[in-house]
Amino acid sequence: MAGIPHDHYEPKSGFEQWLHKRLPIVGLVYDTLMIPTPKNLNWMWIWGIVLVFCLALQIVTGIVLVMHYTPHVDMAFASVEHIMRDVNGGWALRYLHANGASLFFVAVYLHIFRGLYYGSYKAPREVTWIIGMLIYLAMMGTAFMGYVLPWGQMSFWGATVITGLFGAIPGVGPDIQAWLLGGPAVDNATLNRFFSLHYLLPFVIAALVAVHIWAFHSTGNNNPTGVEVRRTSKAEAEKDTLPFWPYFVIKDLFALVVVLVVFFAIVGFMPNYLGHPDNYIEANPLATPAHIVPEWYFLPFYAILRAFTADVWAVQFVQFITFGIVDAKFFGVLAMFGAIAVMALAPWLDTSSVRSGKYRPMFKWWFWLLCVDFIVLMWVGAQSTDFPFDWISLIAATYWFAYFLVILPLLGVIEKPLPQPSTIEEDFKAHYPHAAE
Ligand code: HEM
Repeated sequence: MAGIPHDHYEPKSGFEQWLHKRLPIVGLVYDTLMIPTPKNLNWMWIWGIVLVFCLALQIVTGIVLVMHYTPHVDMAFASVEHIMRDVNGGWALRYLHANGASLFFVAVYLHIFRGLYYGSYKAPREVTWIIGMLIYLAMMGTAFMGYVLPWGQMSFWGATVITGLFGAIPGVGPDIQAWLLGGPAVDNATLNRFFSLHYLLPFVIAALVAVHIWAFHSTGNNNPTGVEVRRTSKAEAEKDTLPFWPYFVIKDLFALVVVLVVFFAIVGFMPNYLGHPDNYIEANPLATPAHIVPEWYFLPFYAILRAFTADVWAVQFVQFITFGIVDAKFFGVLAMFGAIAVMALAPWLDTSSVRSGKYRPMFKWWFWLLCVDFIVLMWVGAQSTDFPFDWISLIAATYWFAYFLVILPLLGVIEKPLPQPSTIEEDFKAHYPHAAE
């Protein structure tokens, strides 16, 4: 796909020309900042910047935390208390890091659902979407391992339950589980390797983010209309776009400040609101907590994991045809990873030729139902597994799969889309008739 025509960096002074020949780094920064950006982007396009901020915040606070933390089962819990009580500003560092993880997931979910509504995953942005999904998986791995480090009760038992899932893989499962843990149970070897990987993964995420940004800079951003920027001439492209600097930099910074006001209020006034009180009790392998609950951002997928029990006929059917290899536990694990896999496949499952949900009258309803479904899954993931929660999880988990595997492919065939604007400029003028040219 040809890029959007615009002015590129021209080195002026002698030094600039000298450097540009050897390392065109100023040109890279200039072209990144001046990239033509659809001028109709709305407030749902701010989450990318919030995500970049979160990643930087987690890396900076994490590196300072590590200076005072000890990854050993005898000292980890005490070292975190030492950070909270003795280290200057240690409490702030820890609370920024713990709540920073939550902000990271709030932003990523809004960013993903924005993409699902405006069809940002569709051609030609499939690679941006898939890299996004890899980032999301890496974020989940990082957050899971990070939660083990304070070595509280939930750290220990959460790690036991989640690594136990790998034990459900037929045949090789127990070996994989022991390999992940570094022994037969969660212990010092587990804490050490999780610490090492928790430090490493954010840098892998940073590299993936660079490729993610490269990918959507190659295709250009999507926008609320889903109509592409005109690329035939520079004059036409300029009618659909504005340079990223200063317009979107200022808009994004404003949005970031608003988000941070809320974030700092939580960090300052209710830092433990999203945490679990049991994680203030040191890990005890001999005392299982009454309810083992993962962090809020894992709950939707945790609910899907638990939804498919041995009573469900589909599970019994699969167990029968696989000669018992896929039992209920393994089915749950497959469903949990499958729930993310079907979302990753959205570019190929959505058969509609219309990109933005704004012009898809039937799609809209199913999409909002998916949002409600996600919230229901999050809520039910924290409940017990008795009636009626078992039924609620099963229905909600089934809808998740039905949306991607049945509704998205079908809608493209049966839905009659609304008329779309022919250009971004036309849509912009309709919304802001008095805006300057
Ligand atoms: C650390 C995590 C991430 C960072 C820092 C990040 C960053 C960004 C930025 C800066 C943008 C452009 C502005 C915007 O749309 O807000 C963007 C666009 C996009 N992101 Fe992400 N992203 C992340 C994770 C994800 C995930 C998990 C997905 C979903 C799979 C995703 C899918 C997309 C798509 C499809 C676009 C293109 C939207 C468009 O062109 O308008 N991203 N991302």
